[in-house]
Parts: sequence; structure tokens; C-alpha cells
Amino acid sequence: MLYTKDNWGPVPAGWTRSHLLGLEDLTAEEITILLDLAQRFRQDVLESPENLRKLPLLTGKTIVNLFFENSTRTRTSFGFAGRRLGADVTDFSAGTSSMAKGETVIDTAKNIQSMGVDAFVVRHVCPGVPKLLADNLKNCAVVNAGDGAHEHPTQGLLDMLTIRQRFGTFEGLKVALVGDIAHSRVARSNIFALLKLGAQPIVCGPSTLVSPCWEEMGVKVCHRLDDILGEADVFNLLRIQFERQVVRPFPSIREYSRLYAMDSVRLSRCKNNVLILAPGPINRGVEITPEVADGPHSVILDQVANGVAVRMAALWCVLTRSKENASK
Ligand code: CP
Repeated sequence: MLYTKDNWGPVPAGWTRSHLLGLEDLTAEEITILLDLAQRFRQDVLESPENLRKLPLLTGKTIVNLFFENSTRTRTSFGFAGRRLGADVTDFSAGTSSMAKGETVIDTAKNIQSMGVDAFVVRHVCPGVPKLLADNLKNCAVVNAGDGAHEHPTQGLLDMLTIRQRFGTFEGLKVALVGDIAHSRVARSNIFALLKLGAQPIVCGPSTLVSPCWEEMGVKVCHRLDDILGEADVFNLLRIQFERQVVRPFPSIREYSRLYAMDSVRLSRCKNNVLILAPGPINRGVEITPEVADGPHSVILDQVANGVAVRMAALWCVLTRSKENASK
């Protein structure tokens, strides 16, 4: 079917937010709205020969990717997502900006917004910067593209979409997040979403990187990957975030890999239909070996493909609602 702005339908009434700052505050209904929309965008637009991967729901809108930290997947896919919806998208590069001369992040965003911006997609090393901008900018949507070790909501959503596509449901699923839980915004967004959607999250890693506090939220905590190989339906293998660590949390990378890398021997002890996820960038040979990363259980590149669809859903929802709020 050929879709246009007129026959695609409205943003579901259950979505009322003009920002997407994290999954902790979202209800299961709001998360499901974004997942259902992303599934539609993937099937009916991105994979539809008739629609040529485009649907002009955001024509006339301007989106700025405000990235203060490196990114390959998130920045590129937000760019694709905005353009596939007909918006103008510009990348801001912090390294060559006037922030080097002392300009604040709020002043930077306000100055760029005054050129006619409808949405900022924000990545920053400091937790809370997307919220700071959402609180200080008027009539402008903000989407969190990763803030320190706080949240990475669209990564959490694309992980959920990838899991749902394979299993059809979250009820009773056991999803293990393995590695550097302490410094991982991906782990936090995954945990919030999994708990709301009815799955059982498990966090696994060295005790220096996995706090027992997670148990208070209903998350299973374990420190030996070998103990949960036959139990989990999904393994999401997280990178060690050396850039966020003050002291090294284990003696050597070699020792970490020996205890926590998903390799073909460990994979052979997992369930037959186990899914292997990784948010990327992956460090081959550290948290995952190449034969597992490139093997039949891996859905790592599917996650990346789902990222465009999820970001189309997020941008369409927040930009539509921010326009409605502005006119009230
Ligand atoms: N997963 C993820 O956020 O990757 P990038 O840092 O490349 O955007």
C-alpha cells in the first residue's frame, strides 16, 4: 500500500509527550505505542518497495543532532530517520563549535534553536543534559540519544523491538545483560523496559560492575555467566565502558574475557533458540568472539536496522505532540 501523510493515521492518543528523555518514566502502554509504530515504519515504509523508504510525516520540520560524544549508529540512524520522514536534519559537531570558547550547552542550543529548530537529538557525557535542555528550551522537542551512564532510551526500544520480533512477547522471557552494568545507560534503559513489559531481567558481571541493589527492583543478579547459560532466552552483551571508569574494575581484559565473553563453547550450552544482542560498538574478543557476533544466533545488525524505525517513531511522536502543545 502506498502511504501518504493523509492515510498513515494520527499519533496514537496514548502518546502525549513532547520529549523522550528515558524509559524509566514511560508506561508499558507508551513503550508499546513506540514499538508498534516502529514495527509499522520498518514493514510499511523502510521495507516497502512502494513507499521507497520515505513517508513525509515531518515535512517542514528541522531536527539538529546535538552530539557532544562520539557515535556511529545513533547519530547516523537519527539522521536517516528524520530524512525518511521528510524533515531537514543537521549534524552539530561539538569539537569544532564555539563551546571551545566557553559557550554553555544551554546557550549553544538556544542559539541554534533561534535559526528555526523543532527538535534536538542530544548525546552528552553528562547525565541529565537532555532534561536540562528540555527544561530550558521553549517549543522544542528533545530526544535523549544517550546521557552518560543514565539512559539511552532509543537503544532500549530497538533492543525491545528486536526481542519482540523473535519471541512475539515479553511475558516470562529471561533477558541477561552481561558486562559493565555499573556504567551502562543501555543496561538501565533495557532494565526499565523489560520490567514494565513483563520480562525477567538478569544482570551478570564482576561484582565491581554489578551492584546487588538491582535485586530491590526485581532484577536477578549473578556474577558467573556460566551459571545462567541454559537459563536466559536472550543475552545482551555490553561493552566495557573504559571511558566512564575511574579505576579499572578487574585485573585484566584477558581475565574478563575468560569469565564473561560469549564464545562458541558457551553458546553451545545456551538454549537452542537463544538470541545474541549487543548494542555496539562491539569489542571482538572481549565481550563477544567473532564467531558468535557473526553467527546464526546474532541479531546485532537487525538491532541496527530496527534503530532507524524506532527513531522514526520517536521523532514523529515527539514532534507531533510538541506542535500540538505549542498551539495550546
Ligand atoms: N549503540 C550505540 O549507541 O552506538 P553508537 O555509540 O555508535 O551510537
